[in-house]
Amino acid sequence: MSTATAVIEEQGTANDLGYHSFSAGQYRFERDEYFAHIYYPGGRHLMHVEAFLRALMRDVGWGFFYGTVNFDDVLGTLNHYGTVDLFVGLLNQAYKSRNRHYVETFNSKDLKKVFEAMLDDWTNEGFDPYAAPDETGNAYGPKRGNNSKALKRERIVAKRMVGLPGDLDIRTDAAGQPVNRQFLDVPQDQPEVHAEPGFEGEVHAFNMFAYTSRSDVTWNPSVVSNVKDSQICATTEEHMLPIFHGNDRVEWFIQICDEIIWDIEDGKTGRPRAKVVMRAGDVAAMPADIRHKGYSPKRSILIVWENNDGTLPQRYSSGQLKPYPVEF
Ligand code: PHB
Ligand code: FE
Repeated sequence: MSTATAVIEEQGTANDLGYHSFSAGQYRFERDEYFAHIYYPGGRHLMHVEAFLRALMRDVGWGFFYGTVNFDDVLGTLNHYGTVDLFVGLLNQAYKSRNRHYVETFNSKDLKKVFEAMLDDWTNEGFDPYAAPDETGNAYGPKRGNNSKALKRERIVAKRMVGLPGDLDIRTDAAGQPVNRQFLDVPQDQPEVHAEPGFEGEVHAFNMFAYTSRSDVTWNPSVVSNVKDSQICATTEEHMLPIFHGNDRVEWFIQICDEIIWDIEDGKTGRPRAKVVMRAGDVAAMPADIRHKGYSPKRSILIVWENNDGTLPQRYSSGQLKPYPVEF
Protein backbone atom coordinates (compact mmCIF):
# COMPACT_ATOMS: atom_id res chain seq x y z
CA MET A 1 0.00 0.00 0.00
CA SER A 2 1.37 3.40 -0.92
CA THR A 3 1.80 6.20 1.51
CA ALA A 4 -0.38 9.16 0.64
CA THR A 5 0.56 12.64 1.73
CA ALA A 6 -1.98 14.48 3.77
CA VAL A 7 -3.15 17.65 2.12
CA ILE A 8 -3.47 19.95 5.06
CA GLU A 9 -6.24 22.03 3.76
CA GLU A 10 -8.03 24.24 6.16
CA GLN A 11 -10.25 25.44 3.39
CA GLY A 12 -9.91 29.21 3.41
CA THR A 13 -13.14 30.45 4.81
CA ALA A 14 -15.16 29.06 7.63
CA ASN A 15 -18.77 27.92 7.19
CA ASP A 16 -21.70 30.03 8.45
CA LEU A 17 -21.27 28.57 11.95
CA GLY A 18 -17.60 29.56 12.09
CA TYR A 19 -16.03 26.11 11.56
CA HIS A 20 -13.38 25.27 8.95
CA SER A 21 -13.39 22.05 6.96
CA PHE A 22 -10.32 19.84 6.71
CA SER A 23 -8.94 17.39 4.16
CA ALA A 24 -6.55 14.47 4.36
CA GLY A 25 -5.97 12.71 1.06
CA GLN A 26 -9.43 12.06 -0.33
CA TYR A 27 -11.18 12.47 3.02
CA ARG A 28 -13.01 15.69 3.85
CA PHE A 29 -14.23 16.57 7.33
CA GLU A 30 -16.93 19.16 8.09
CA ARG A 31 -18.72 20.09 11.28
CA ASP A 32 -22.04 21.73 12.04
CA GLU A 33 -23.74 22.44 15.37
CA TYR A 34 -24.27 18.79 16.30
CA PHE A 35 -22.36 16.55 13.92
CA ALA A 36 -19.01 15.76 12.33
CA HIS A 37 -19.45 14.77 8.67
CA ILE A 38 -16.83 12.56 7.08
CA TYR A 39 -16.86 12.39 3.26
CA TYR A 40 -14.78 9.77 1.44
CA PRO A 41 -14.77 8.25 -2.05
CA GLY A 42 -17.89 6.12 -2.15
CA GLY A 43 -19.82 7.53 0.75
CA ARG A 44 -20.24 9.70 3.80
CA HIS A 45 -20.26 9.01 7.50
CA LEU A 46 -21.54 11.03 10.44
CA MET A 47 -20.84 11.09 14.18
CA HIS A 48 -22.25 13.25 16.92
CA VAL A 49 -19.62 15.87 17.42
CA GLU A 50 -18.97 15.38 21.12
CA ALA A 51 -18.20 11.68 20.59
CA PHE A 52 -16.07 12.57 17.58
CA LEU A 53 -14.00 15.16 19.47
CA ARG A 54 -13.51 12.87 22.48
CA ALA A 55 -12.21 10.11 20.19
CA LEU A 56 -10.10 12.51 18.13
CA MET A 57 -8.51 13.85 21.33
CA ARG A 58 -7.38 10.33 22.31
CA ASP A 59 -6.06 9.57 18.82
CA VAL A 60 -4.03 12.80 18.75
CA GLY A 61 -2.92 12.69 22.39
CA TRP A 62 -1.76 9.08 22.14
CA GLY A 63 -0.08 9.34 18.72
CA PHE A 64 -2.56 6.79 17.24
CA PHE A 65 -2.00 4.46 20.25
CA TYR A 66 -1.34 0.72 19.97
CA GLY A 67 -3.19 -0.95 17.10
CA THR A 68 -6.62 0.39 16.27
CA VAL A 69 -8.51 3.42 17.53
CA ASN A 70 -12.13 2.89 16.46
CA PHE A 71 -14.03 6.18 16.76
CA ASP A 72 -17.21 4.09 16.43
CA ASP A 73 -17.99 0.85 14.58
CA VAL A 74 -17.17 2.40 11.19
CA LEU A 75 -14.44 5.06 11.37
CA GLY A 76 -10.97 4.61 12.81
CA THR A 77 -7.19 4.58 12.53
CA LEU A 78 -4.80 1.63 12.41
CA ASN A 79 -1.27 2.37 13.60
CA HIS A 80 1.70 1.02 11.65
CA TYR A 81 4.14 3.07 13.76
CA GLY A 82 5.39 5.59 11.20
CA THR A 83 2.44 5.34 8.88
CA VAL A 84 -1.21 5.09 9.80
CA ASP A 85 -4.34 3.90 7.98
CA LEU A 86 -7.44 6.06 8.18
CA PHE A 87 -10.37 3.79 7.42
CA VAL A 88 -14.11 3.62 6.98
CA GLY A 89 -15.71 0.21 7.44
CA LEU A 90 -12.45 -1.76 7.37
CA LEU A 91 -13.23 -3.49 10.66
CA ASN A 92 -16.97 -3.72 10.12
CA GLN A 93 -18.24 -7.00 8.74
CA ALA A 94 -21.12 -5.50 6.78
CA TYR A 95 -19.01 -2.85 5.04
CA LYS A 96 -16.18 -5.28 4.40
CA SER A 97 -18.28 -8.13 2.99
CA ARG A 98 -19.92 -5.72 0.53
CA ASN A 99 -16.59 -4.12 -0.36
CA ARG A 100 -17.86 -0.73 0.85
CA HIS A 101 -14.86 -0.02 3.06
CA TYR A 102 -12.30 2.68 2.25
CA VAL A 103 -8.70 2.92 3.52
CA GLU A 104 -6.00 5.50 2.95
CA THR A 105 -2.48 5.37 4.39
CA PHE A 106 -0.70 8.49 5.67
CA ASN A 107 2.59 9.41 7.19
CA SER A 108 1.61 9.54 10.85
CA LYS A 109 2.98 13.02 11.41
CA ASP A 110 1.00 14.42 8.43
CA LEU A 111 -2.31 12.99 9.60
CA LYS A 112 -1.57 14.06 13.17
CA LYS A 113 -1.17 17.66 11.99
CA VAL A 114 -4.55 17.60 10.25
CA PHE A 115 -6.21 16.01 13.28
CA GLU A 116 -4.64 18.53 15.65
CA ALA A 117 -5.78 21.49 13.55
CA MET A 118 -9.31 20.05 13.27
CA LEU A 119 -9.52 19.33 16.99
CA ASP A 120 -8.41 22.87 17.81
CA ASP A 121 -10.81 24.51 15.34
CA TRP A 122 -13.82 22.41 16.33
CA THR A 123 -13.44 22.52 20.12
CA ASN A 124 -15.38 25.35 21.72
CA GLU A 125 -14.47 27.34 24.78
CA GLY A 126 -15.49 25.45 27.91
CA PHE A 127 -15.52 21.99 26.33
CA ASP A 128 -12.70 19.66 27.36
CA PRO A 129 -12.73 16.34 25.46
CA TYR A 130 -10.68 14.69 28.24
CA ALA A 131 -13.06 15.71 31.04
CA ALA A 132 -15.95 13.71 32.47
CA PRO A 133 -19.29 14.98 31.08
CA ASP A 134 -20.22 16.33 34.52
CA GLU A 135 -16.98 18.34 34.73
CA THR A 136 -17.10 20.20 31.40
CA GLY A 137 -19.23 22.43 29.21
CA ASN A 138 -20.85 21.25 26.01
CA ALA A 139 -19.40 20.74 22.55
CA TYR A 140 -22.42 21.87 20.52
CA GLY A 141 -23.56 25.01 18.73
CA PRO A 142 -21.86 27.62 16.58
CA LYS A 143 -18.16 28.28 17.14
CA ARG A 144 -17.40 29.93 20.49
CA GLY A 145 -13.75 30.70 21.30
CA ASN A 146 -11.42 27.75 21.80
CA ASN A 147 -9.87 25.51 24.44
CA SER A 148 -6.39 25.14 22.95
CA LYS A 149 -4.72 24.84 26.36
CA ALA A 150 -6.68 21.71 27.30
CA LEU A 151 -5.92 20.10 23.94
CA LYS A 152 -2.18 20.46 24.33
CA ARG A 153 -1.98 18.00 27.22
CA GLU A 154 0.60 15.40 26.29
CA ARG A 155 0.37 11.81 27.46
CA ILE A 156 2.32 11.85 30.73
CA VAL A 157 5.17 9.33 30.73
CA ALA A 158 7.53 8.62 33.62
CA LYS A 159 11.11 7.87 32.57
CA ARG A 160 11.43 5.37 35.41
CA MET A 161 8.96 6.15 38.17
CA VAL A 162 6.93 9.06 39.49
CA GLY A 163 8.73 10.88 42.31
CA LEU A 164 12.31 9.89 41.43
CA PRO A 165 14.81 12.76 41.10
CA GLY A 166 14.62 14.20 37.58
CA ASP A 167 11.40 12.30 36.85
CA LEU A 168 7.69 13.23 37.03
CA ASP A 169 6.75 15.06 40.22
CA ILE A 170 4.27 13.77 42.74
CA ARG A 171 0.98 15.72 42.40
CA THR A 172 0.09 18.25 45.10
CA ASP A 173 -2.49 20.93 45.96
CA ALA A 174 0.30 23.50 45.77
CA ALA A 175 0.96 22.54 42.14
CA GLY A 176 -2.73 23.07 41.32
CA GLN A 177 -3.62 19.37 41.26
CA PRO A 178 -6.42 18.90 43.82
CA VAL A 179 -7.96 15.55 44.70
CA ASN A 180 -10.94 14.89 42.41
CA ARG A 181 -14.44 15.26 43.92
CA GLN A 182 -15.00 11.50 43.64
CA PHE A 183 -11.78 10.53 45.44
CA LEU A 184 -11.96 12.56 48.64
CA ASP A 185 -11.68 9.29 50.61
CA VAL A 186 -8.37 8.25 49.00
CA PRO A 187 -5.56 8.44 51.64
CA GLN A 188 -2.94 10.99 50.66
CA ASP A 189 -0.03 9.85 52.85
CA GLN A 190 3.26 8.82 51.26
CA PRO A 191 5.04 5.53 52.02
CA GLU A 192 8.07 5.52 54.32
CA VAL A 193 11.13 4.01 52.68
CA HIS A 194 13.75 2.47 55.02
CA ALA A 195 16.56 1.28 52.76
CA GLU A 196 19.43 -0.86 53.98
CA PRO A 197 22.62 1.20 54.29
CA GLY A 198 24.26 1.40 50.88
CA PHE A 199 20.96 1.00 49.00
CA GLU A 200 19.50 4.45 49.72
CA GLY A 201 19.67 5.51 46.06
CA GLU A 202 18.11 2.29 44.75
CA VAL A 203 14.81 1.98 46.57
CA HIS A 204 11.82 4.15 45.81
CA ALA A 205 8.08 4.18 46.42
CA PHE A 206 5.21 6.62 46.00
CA ASN A 207 1.47 6.55 46.70
CA MET A 208 0.05 5.76 43.26
CA PHE A 209 -3.54 5.96 44.52
CA ALA A 210 -2.96 9.51 45.81
CA TYR A 211 -1.21 10.45 42.56
CA THR A 212 -4.04 9.10 40.41
CA SER A 213 -6.80 10.58 42.60
CA ARG A 214 -5.49 14.00 41.52
CA SER A 215 -5.93 13.39 37.78
CA ASP A 216 -8.20 15.97 36.12
CA VAL A 217 -8.70 13.87 32.98
CA THR A 218 -10.57 10.65 32.25
CA TRP A 219 -9.74 7.69 30.03
CA ASN A 220 -6.19 8.90 29.53
CA PRO A 221 -3.62 6.46 30.96
CA SER A 222 -0.32 8.00 32.04
CA VAL A 223 2.81 5.95 32.51
CA VAL A 224 3.71 5.98 36.22
CA SER A 225 6.52 3.45 36.01
CA ASN A 226 8.61 2.17 33.14
CA VAL A 227 10.93 -0.84 33.33
CA LYS A 228 12.30 -1.75 29.91
CA ASP A 229 9.12 -2.56 27.89
CA SER A 230 6.88 -2.89 30.94
CA GLN A 231 4.71 0.20 31.33
CA ILE A 232 2.36 0.62 34.26
CA CYS A 233 -0.28 3.18 33.22
CA ALA A 234 -2.68 4.60 35.79
CA THR A 235 -5.91 6.29 34.81
CA THR A 236 -9.17 7.61 36.22
CA GLU A 237 -12.32 6.52 34.45
CA GLU A 238 -15.76 8.13 34.53
CA HIS A 239 -18.57 7.77 31.97
CA MET A 240 -17.21 5.82 28.96
CA LEU A 241 -14.05 5.19 26.97
CA PRO A 242 -14.66 7.33 23.87
CA ILE A 243 -13.15 4.75 21.51
CA PHE A 244 -13.24 1.02 20.91
CA HIS A 245 -9.58 0.08 21.31
CA GLY A 246 -8.41 -2.82 19.15
CA ASN A 247 -5.01 -3.72 20.49
CA ASP A 248 -2.22 -5.39 18.50
CA ARG A 249 -0.89 -7.13 21.61
CA VAL A 250 -2.18 -8.43 24.94
CA GLU A 251 -3.02 -5.74 27.47
CA TRP A 252 -3.66 -6.30 31.18
CA PHE A 253 -6.22 -4.41 33.27
CA ILE A 254 -6.20 -4.19 37.07
CA GLN A 255 -9.30 -2.58 38.56
CA ILE A 256 -8.22 -0.58 41.62
CA CYS A 257 -11.56 0.69 42.91
CA ASP A 258 -15.25 0.72 41.99
CA GLU A 259 -16.40 -0.90 38.75
CA ILE A 260 -15.99 -0.87 34.97
CA ILE A 261 -18.19 -2.85 32.58
CA TRP A 262 -16.42 -3.73 29.31
CA ASP A 263 -17.96 -4.53 25.93
CA ILE A 264 -15.64 -6.92 24.12
CA GLU A 265 -15.98 -7.45 20.37
CA ASP A 266 -14.02 -9.34 17.76
CA GLY A 267 -11.30 -6.94 16.60
CA LYS A 268 -11.83 -7.48 12.87
CA THR A 269 -15.59 -7.89 12.50
CA GLY A 270 -17.08 -6.15 15.53
CA ARG A 271 -19.09 -9.24 16.45
CA PRO A 272 -19.88 -9.23 20.20
CA ARG A 273 -17.60 -11.58 22.20
CA ALA A 274 -18.11 -10.85 25.89
CA LYS A 275 -19.26 -8.53 28.63
CA VAL A 276 -16.69 -8.27 31.39
CA VAL A 277 -17.61 -6.71 34.72
CA MET A 278 -14.48 -5.73 36.64
CA ARG A 279 -14.71 -4.83 40.32
CA ALA A 280 -12.02 -3.61 42.71
CA GLY A 281 -9.18 -6.15 42.76
CA ASP A 282 -10.13 -7.89 39.49
CA VAL A 283 -7.42 -8.53 36.92
CA ALA A 284 -8.05 -9.26 33.23
CA ALA A 285 -5.84 -9.95 30.22
CA MET A 286 -7.43 -8.45 27.12
CA PRO A 287 -6.53 -10.69 24.16
CA ALA A 288 -4.66 -9.35 21.13
CA ASP A 289 -7.52 -10.07 18.69
CA ILE A 290 -10.40 -8.15 20.30
CA ARG A 291 -11.52 -4.57 20.74
CA HIS A 292 -12.97 -3.11 23.91
CA LYS A 293 -14.88 -0.15 25.27
CA GLY A 294 -15.36 0.45 28.99
CA TYR A 295 -18.19 2.04 31.00
CA SER A 296 -17.49 3.41 34.48
CA PRO A 297 -20.68 4.50 36.27
CA LYS A 298 -18.68 6.14 39.07
CA ARG A 299 -15.17 7.57 38.71
CA SER A 300 -12.83 4.63 39.19
CA ILE A 301 -9.11 3.93 39.07
CA LEU A 302 -7.74 1.48 36.52
CA ILE A 303 -4.20 0.28 35.89
CA VAL A 304 -3.45 -0.60 32.29
CA TRP A 305 -0.30 -2.67 31.91
CA GLU A 306 1.21 -2.31 28.44
CA ASN A 307 4.06 -4.18 26.80
CA ASN A 308 5.92 -1.67 24.62
CA ASP A 309 7.94 -4.30 22.68
CA GLY A 310 7.73 -3.22 19.03
CA THR A 311 8.10 -6.79 17.71
CA LEU A 312 4.77 -7.89 19.22
CA PRO A 313 2.27 -6.76 16.53
CA GLN A 314 3.99 -8.92 13.90
CA ARG A 315 4.32 -11.87 16.26
CA TYR A 316 0.62 -11.80 17.07
CA SER A 317 -0.62 -11.12 13.53
CA SER A 318 1.53 -13.94 12.11
CA GLY A 319 0.15 -16.41 14.65
CA GLN A 320 3.54 -17.03 16.27
CA LEU A 321 1.97 -15.93 19.55
CA LYS A 322 -1.50 -16.94 20.70
CA PRO A 323 -3.83 -13.96 21.21
CA TYR A 324 -4.13 -14.72 24.93
CA PRO A 325 -1.32 -15.04 27.50
CA VAL A 326 -2.42 -18.06 29.56
CA GLU A 327 -4.24 -21.35 29.12
CA PHE A 328 -6.15 -22.80 32.08
C1 PHB B 1 -7.61 0.84 26.50
O1 PHB B 1 -7.99 0.96 25.35
O2 PHB B 1 -7.08 -0.20 26.83
C2 PHB B 1 -7.79 1.94 27.44
C3 PHB B 1 -7.67 3.23 26.99
C4 PHB B 1 -7.85 4.27 27.90
C5 PHB B 1 -8.12 3.99 29.21
C6 PHB B 1 -8.22 2.69 29.65
C7 PHB B 1 -8.06 1.65 28.76
O3 PHB B 1 -8.29 4.98 30.06
FE1 FE C 1 -7.01 -1.24 25.19
